[in-house]
Amino acid sequence: MSGVPQSNPQKTFYLETFGCQMNVHDSEKVVGTLVQEGYRQVETVELADLVLYNTCSIRDKAEQKVFNRLSDYKKYKAQGKTFGVLGCVAQQEGEKIFERAPYVSLVAGSASYRNLPQMLVQIEAGKQRVTGLDDRETDECFETEFTARTNPHRGYITIIEGCDKFCAYCVVPYTRGKERSRTSESVLAEARQMADFGYTEIQLLGQNVNSYKDSEGKPGARKTFAELLAAVGQVPGIKRVRFTTSHPRDFGRDIIDAIDAVPTLCDHVHLPVQSGSTRVLDAMQRLYTRDQYLERIAWMKAAKREISITSDVIVGFPGETEADFAETLGLLEEVGFDAVFAFKYSPRPNTPSLKLDDAIPDAEKARRLEVLMAKQRQIQIARYKKYIGTICEVMVEGRNVARAQWIGRTSHNRTLNFTAPEGAIPKAGTYASVIVTGSFPNSLLGEMVV
Ligand code: 5AD
Ligand code: SF4
Repeated sequence: MSGVPQSNPQKTFYLETFGCQMNVHDSEKVVGTLVQEGYRQVETVELADLVLYNTCSIRDKAEQKVFNRLSDYKKYKAQGKTFGVLGCVAQQEGEKIFERAPYVSLVAGSASYRNLPQMLVQIEAGKQRVTGLDDRETDECFETEFTARTNPHRGYITIIEGCDKFCAYCVVPYTRGKERSRTSESVLAEARQMADFGYTEIQLLGQNVNSYKDSEGKPGARKTFAELLAAVGQVPGIKRVRFTTSHPRDFGRDIIDAIDAVPTLCDHVHLPVQSGSTRVLDAMQRLYTRDQYLERIAWMKAAKREISITSDVIVGFPGETEADFAETLGLLEEVGFDAVFAFKYSPRPNTPSLKLDDAIPDAEKARRLEVLMAKQRQIQIARYKKYIGTICEVMVEGRNVARAQWIGRTSHNRTLNFTAPEGAIPKAGTYASVIVTGSFPNSLLGEMVV
């Protein structure tokens, strides 16, 4: 939790985080664990005794970026600094990191963060190379005892780690290990504790939250993901609950029923489609067809509240034809996503799609990406315009001083920047009613209603 005591200010650490929300939250756990051990976090490498990189390997030449960054700082090794590589590149490259970057002493994947104190003791005792790597066999729970959350109003809770889906392009099952769910009791205890600390928004995290499997209590009493979601939404003091990421194959109608029944569950679902072509989805080993995806969209569109839907798309997967790509564009049109995160396919180590032929040239991938983003931009322009004149509740996130605006977020997860009447000073973390007066492709503009 925030406010973890800083018992021993002598030892200092610098932590830089790359990648997704899971990594951001893992870093909060790393900070919590280290602070509890007497370390103090500092803002620059120069001030730190221990330098840690929490790395991401989902796309591109992520490994190379990490090695480049490390080599920028290797001069500090002579000053007695300790370097550690954490996260997905650590898990993926393992002990090879020591060979390529001999100034690194610690290589640890996400399943081992609770053991960081012991690993650091070994380094302090003079051990040159210490590893904490997941072998995909371990059932060890990833829970750490201490978490230093950076935002005092909105916080993450991991409910499930790892992934057993093995999509053909994805490195995650190899870097984050097999699926391990926390018990619903432990998740709820953390949610209640966060509410006591004043948090009003909780985001449940997992690579695939829909695969959540409660292991607590008698089989009949174990909570499904939808039941856990509803229970977190009913924790007194919690006003908003989000969850990410969902996998279409495991996305049940009961999640929509929960959103219908529990007003604190946000009306936003991130449901990565990856491609609109069943043929490509099959090659990606995504385990659903275009029609099955659209069926889930139809459930959402039939919900009591309007649910905003966002997605991820990969363009240029090996063998993706112009006709496949056209199907993806058609799907964007048909669904009307609120936002799409689109990526050029990038071959990753260990993944089955590395062996596929029919690579698409990079220039063609770039072209498809551009076409797709232009299309989605038009869709968003039309969608966002519709909200002009409506009143939305926002959580105030901060102030944009240059524009004399406050930054807000709606339950739909849209950014709504707004002005406030003379004298009104909306505070970060509070909620305000805002009338929408303008729209952009990625955000809304409004005025606070008092
Ligand atoms: N190449 C391109 N995009 C990828 N993603 C995952 N792996 C790859 C890859 N090898 C994208 C997917 C996923 C998001 C987190 O990153 O769209 O949903
Ligand atoms: Fe990767 Fe697929 Fe697992 Fe998502 S569901 S983390 S894309 S393997």
